[in-house]
Amino acid sequence: MEVSSFFEVRDLVARVGDFEVGPLHFEVARGEALALVGPSGSGKTTLLEVVCGLREGQLVRGEILLGGESLVGMNLEAREIGLVPQDVVLFPSMTVREHLEFGLRVRKRLGKKERREVEGLGERLGLGELMERKVKGLSGGEGRRVSIGRALAFGPRLLCLDEALTGLDEARKLGVMEVLREFLRGGGAALVVEHGETGFREVEIG
Ligand SMILES: Nc1ncnc2c1ncn2[C@@H]1O[C@H](COP(=O)(O)OP(=O)(O)OP(=O)(O)O)[C@@H](O)[C@H]1O
Ligand SMILES: [Mg+2]
Repeated sequence: MEVSSFFEVRDLVARVGDFEVGPLHFEVARGEALALVGPSGSGKTTLLEVVCGLREGQLVRGEILLGGESLVGMNLEAREIGLVPQDVVLFPSMTVREHLEFGLRVRKRLGKKERREVEGLGERLGLGELMERKVKGLSGGEGRRVSIGRALAFGPRLLCLDEALTGLDEARKLGVMEVLREFLRGGGAALVVEHGETGFREVEIG
């Protein structure tokens, strides 16, 4: 089969609450981020979670392809997608470092090199001083950056950011955008939901 694009959604219809959204068609190349835009309640979060496999039951029809392979029915880990959910959930008893290492650890890929990379990622996300802290008691913005680090550190193929920049001050926003651009330069693709300008190509839903 010919791989025409890196991430592709074809004729996708999803059940959102008591209505349906779609059919949606879009493609995202390696190195590109696409912004999903639409009013509150239009189904942006639902769509991201359908793509990630968290709401497979709400996929009515359509195809979701990553690297030419169908994601429909694939287990969550095998998808190699990093999600920063709109409502960040962290493990209170774990440190910042343990959160960042989590995806590597469950995939049994946490070696010396990966530990160094996690260290660097923590620095670039402004978490350097917090690496050994338990996440309980972190500020909202710190917690969001931990969630971004956790989604990125294992080297996903696709990164889904659901209002990940919300609540970050301008300086932190720029820092996170730089980390995102670096991920894209490395050949990843991203699907983002943000209120306000991202500068990315947009697809309208709802
Ligand atoms: N588990 C659920 N059960 C019933 N309805 C739900 C459920 N999850 C979401 N919905 C409904 O689906 C609709 C879309 O929700 P969704 O969270 O996907 O919207 P959104 O575009 O992300 O909105 P926002 O910009 O406010 O985050 C809403 O009307 C919501 O109430
Ligand atoms: Mg949402």
